[in-house]
Amino acid sequence: MSKLRIGLIGLGNIGRHHATYLLEGKASRCELAAVCATTPAKLEPYYQRKLRVSTDALELVRSGAIDAVLIATPHYDHTTLGIAALEAGLHVMVEKPISAHKADAERLLEAAARHPEQIFAGMFQLRVEPRYAKLRSLIDGGELGQIQRVTWINTDWFRTETYYASGGWRATWKGEGGGVLLNQCLHNLDVLAWLLGMPTRVRGFCQFGRWHNIEVEDQVTAYFELPNGATGTFISSTGEAPGTNRFEIAGTRGRVVLENNRLTFTRNESDALEWSRTAQVGFSKPDVWNIEIPFENAANQHATLMQNFASAALDGAPLIAPGQEGMNSVELANAIVLSSLEGETIELPMSGARWEAKLQELIANSTLKKETRAVTADDFAASFRR
Ligand SMILES: NC(=O)c1ccc[n+]([C@@H]2O[C@H](COP(=O)([O-])OP(=O)(O)OC[C@H]3O[C@@H](n4cnc5c(N)ncnc54)[C@H](O)[C@@H]3O)[C@@H](O)[C@H]2O)c1
Repeated sequence: MSKLRIGLIGLGNIGRHHATYLLEGKASRCELAAVCATTPAKLEPYYQRKLRVSTDALELVRSGAIDAVLIATPHYDHTTLGIAALEAGLHVMVEKPISAHKADAERLLEAAARHPEQIFAGMFQLRVEPRYAKLRSLIDGGELGQIQRVTWINTDWFRTETYYASGGWRATWKGEGGGVLLNQCLHNLDVLAWLLGMPTRVRGFCQFGRWHNIEVEDQVTAYFELPNGATGTFISSTGEAPGTNRFEIAGTRGRVVLENNRLTFTRNESDALEWSRTAQVGFSKPDVWNIEIPFENAANQHATLMQNFASAALDGAPLIAPGQEGMNSVELANAIVLSSLEGETIELPMSGARWEAKLQELIANSTLKKETRAVTADDFAASFRR
């Protein structure tokens, strides 16, 4: 097989973006063979391209006309459609989050485990950004020494009331299962776990509908601890403008800061703890080197990840973002909200069943009257680079 025939399910904001670069041939060896949308009008442009079109995702999945699906529907369907596609023998690329909550993610992962010969990947495109790859190699290479503290102020996810009204499912417990953590900064939670591993415990403080007419969290401060005892904070908001995106990691060999498209490493000439143990004076610190680490921005994050998905399916190449690792960001998003609602520290791994029960309670008690309206022109691509 020289090309992977892909069926794209969901033609909303991100679905149309996927369709565009796939049709432009920007992800080599990916052939957009079919599209599926529940709204027939969204299929119109694709008739002319001679693609197979469908309004029924399960019919497409079982059609035999595709080798793989790219699932770009609202979150809850990621689990049901993902399982159906795996059961039908297809490779699966699922949009983030891989599921709306941890218990659903466990169901999806169980299905993937039953079909180990099929590729199961998650659309975590920040992993292809060179700045995060460089951070990863600094950490893994021991350049920062022992990690002591992580601080990510991640409040440049500003969203308007119109954004929230643009989909009936958005920012509701029933339609989405969470807010800024599960949707916007889920990418950053994925990067956090990818770079540093999963925390052992979290304590979250969330405000729900603080800045918008929504019922889920739109303002978050979370504290977490890593297995080595390093402490961390993660702060996010969709109500702050201009907002900040400052990612700072401090280790015994120095501190790295990613902010304003610059990666700066302030490198201790000697390990700070070694210095502390051996210095004969009380207030001095190791000398430092100030290093600016250059990087390019990825040209088309989503296309690169899809190309990797095709290489994995066709040639057995290693995946950049295995679907199984999508559990991490879902779990962090759920645990921070659960911690906030229950006023307790959550030890990880958390119980998926416990959060699912709490989520069902939130759905049952929801009183929000959701407003929806169509959005005509918008610069959706502006939401990508973080
Ligand atoms: N990776 C990224 O950069 C990125 C960016 C935006 C959104 N997303 C994710 O993509 C998903 C969709 O987000 P969006 O902003 O495009 O939402 P959206 O509301 O704009 O689009 C979702 C589309 O899915 C369609 N749909 C729903 N159920 C369907 C079904 N069973 N079969 C076919 N179509 C169906 C809807 O009609 C709608 O057109 C979400 O899970 C979101 O988190 C990822």
